[in-house]
Amino acid sequence: MNKAHDRAAFTCGEYALDRYLKQSAGQDLRRGLAVTYVLAESTTPDVIAGFYTLSASSVPLDTFPDETARRLARYPNVPVALIGRLATDIRYRGQHCGSRLLVDALIRICTISETVIGVSAAVVDAKNEDAARFYEHFGFTRFQHSVPPRLFIPLKTARAAVQPLLPKHSRLPTDI
Ligand SMILES: CC(C)(COP(=O)(O)OP(=O)(O)OC[C@H]1O[C@@H](n2cnc3c(N)ncnc32)[C@H](O)[C@@H]1OP(=O)(O)O)[C@@H](O)C(=O)NCCC(=O)NCCS
Repeated sequence: MNKAHDRAAFTCGEYALDRYLKQSAGQDLRRGLAVTYVLAESTTPDVIAGFYTLSASSVPLDTFPDETARRLARYPNVPVALIGRLATDIRYRGQHCGSRLLVDALIRICTISETVIGVSAAVVDAKNEDAARFYEHFGFTRFQHSVPPRLFIPLKTARAAVQPLLPKHSRLPTDI
């Protein structure tokens, strides 16, 4: 996201998400709380078709389903990348902008997890049930008892899905 993007014009139908983009995204970036990524067409680079945010986070291991927890970590907390917000403008709805944003987020998370910082799962905060179903459509699983819904996908699963799209040679030597 940069100053050329017309944040004021963005409307996704969820007031809190629109307001976040207009009022809080810049401040969160400066404070190191979240980075906002936007999707825009090359012909209209100032028009925001959609956006998502990424933050580092961690989730207690015992909140994952038992079977997943066994495979995920041996520590009490699991390092995750949090897709805190994701939305598409109503003018771009149903044009696969949401899926492009989600795939872009997973590609970034898989890339940094191989090269920069350990991440075991991607976690999303869904605003409501409808949004949760969007993420389930892409293979995310719900955390039990989370209201509003919170979902995850193990990075191993995400990596298998986006592997063909990952930048070549993204894996750096891990020996130091
Ligand atoms: C949820 C949202 C991001 C979907 O964006 P979109 O651009 O319309 O989605 P896409 O066109 O990329 O849809 C991709 C696929 O997901 C499916 N899908 C979209 N919304 C869905 C929903 N609510 N439930 C289930 N599936 C859904 C589509 O049918 C499509 O399926 P296909 O690949 O089999 O054709 C958009 O509706 C939105 O911004 N909503 C308001 C904000 C919000 O709720 N954000 C999410 C939580 S913060």
